[in-house]
Amino acid sequence: MAGLAVNVDHVATLRNARGGNEPDPVHAAVLVELAGADGVVVHLRGDRRHIKDRDVYLIRQIVRTKMILEMAPTEEMLAIACKVKPHQATLVPERRMEITTEGGLDIAANRKEVVHAIETLHKEGILVSLFIDQDQRQVSLASEVGADVVELHTGAFCEANTPKERSQLFEHIALAARQAHSQGLVVHAGHGLGYKTLEAFFDFPEIAEFSIGHSIISRAVFVGLEAAVGEMLDLVRQV
Ligand code: PXP
Repeated sequence: MAGLAVNVDHVATLRNARGGNEPDPVHAAVLVELAGADGVVVHLRGDRRHIKDRDVYLIRQIVRTKMILEMAPTEEMLAIACKVKPHQATLVPERRMEITTEGGLDIAANRKEVVHAIETLHKEGILVSLFIDQDQRQVSLASEVGADVVELHTGAFCEANTPKERSQLFEHIALAARQAHSQGLVVHAGHGLGYKTLEAFFDFPEIAEFSIGHSIISRAVFVGLEAAVGEMLDLVRQV
């Protein structure tokens, strides 16, 4: 049975639309846990477009399951992570103009920063996940640089235009997941997943956890956060 970590960034997006305090992602973190999720995820971006520093510190204090901090491997974020001490840090690439994280981390191109980030986070006892594309070369590199977890990018699969493209991308995810698992890495998956796309992952035992945000927060607008998390949990527990 896989786990579900819920990303509450878009509660902060809604809050920031009016520049006030509501809705509060800290309240969302409490509800997400009460609904049975296995973890709460926040992405503190360099431009602070949704989650702000105060959210990260407060959510770390109140979360009782697992708090996951998504971050770029920059000195600024490393300093914050070392103070906050999340249970896990997920290293992601960050481009200023992107709407959301567009691709996985290129470990080869950023090896020095990634190794430095992993060493710094490990010294504080923080598990490190690397968000990578469904690419077997990246899986090998993740293992080489000492990551604990890889999160496989499911965005392209979820957005595939044709059944052929979809099944090719799925096959790549499956190969990468099997390889990562056999190399002793814990395998997570995330980005773009929704209530309909999750079905493809039933019977995929290598995936230990899904990281899902936008679809759950979108559904919560209509049915409430507890119900939206509960419906996703029902699906995730079938994996
Ligand atoms: N995993 C990572 C590494 C991400 O950057 C994001 C988006 O913040 C997610 C998962 C969640 O993606 P979505 O909001 O599309 O479910």
